[in-house]
Amino acid sequence: MSDIQFDARGHLKHLLTLEGVGRQTLLNLLDRADSFRVIPGEAPRRHTWLAGRTVANLFFEPSTRTRASFELAARRLGADVLNLDIAASSTVKGESLQDTLYTLEAMNVDVFVVRHKDEGVQALMASHAAPHVHVLNAGEAHVSHPTQGLLDAFTIRRHKKDFTQLSVAIVGDIKHSRVARSAVRALVTLGTRDIRLAGPKSLLPKKGDLHGEFCTDADEAVAGADVVMMLRIQKERMQKAAVPSAAAYFKRYGLDMRRLKRAKPGAIVLHPGPMNRGIEIAPEVADGPQSVIREQVTNGVAVRMAVLQSFYT
Ligand code: CP
Repeated sequence: MSDIQFDARGHLKHLLTLEGVGRQTLLNLLDRADSFRVIPGEAPRRHTWLAGRTVANLFFEPSTRTRASFELAARRLGADVLNLDIAASSTVKGESLQDTLYTLEAMNVDVFVVRHKDEGVQALMASHAAPHVHVLNAGEAHVSHPTQGLLDAFTIRRHKKDFTQLSVAIVGDIKHSRVARSAVRALVTLGTRDIRLAGPKSLLPKKGDLHGEFCTDADEAVAGADVVMMLRIQKERMQKAAVPSAAAYFKRYGLDMRRLKRAKPGAIVLHPGPMNRGIEIAPEVADGPQSVIREQVTNGVAVRMAVLQSFYT
């Protein structure tokens, strides 16, 4: 599947997954993103890299961060942006994804940003897209969320210079997490060896599904970590309740100040959002000095600008 995302020169034509994306390509994207980073309060520069291009956001699942940041990224690069309201679109009347693609291509859409609950949808669209069209995965089932993986790596690199020396703890609903899968893929490619994946047994994936050391003890996973990434419990991807009560879950797996103190001094805390405060993370940690959660959101715009720009340079 990953072959489809490269052109004949080996450059990214689509971004469907971080599987198969090499270290140098990842680093090039992170370096590009550095040039686009704007801190809140500063006026973002207007660019023209995508002038005359049209980017369509097709979100078949809800989103705040990813959708808004793709829209801002595209506009800051000079593109026109179409946000298709899926609930009010002809999808509801049974129009296929392929026909939706062809219809919007006929209106000169050049880039499709797609989030979908089903696996393989973005690859299917890429395989049917016109040669000049790019498809970007904005979240695919539990499988992949490549721009989230990139923005997590970008955020970590701003605070911790050497990926090869890092200990990273990812805690929560690993089983249903496309964020964990893409973050782990990026970290492994960048040389991180010590990755701990912690959660209740019912929320851990099958062995071999994901690179890392699996454990059910959050205290053990967080001990000595440089980076702690907390994940949301994804009730929407569960057939039935796979976790005990919220209070019991928080006690065993939530990140409060006591548990965070087990990490290295200066450890940073990430969360892809949206957060369930008091379930996987305590408010004083989410809003505390070690949290880079809002910075992740800022960086998401820069990373998405980098990916979009890379298609047109
Ligand atoms: N992190 C993330 O994908 O957030 P949204 O669902 O709000 O886009």
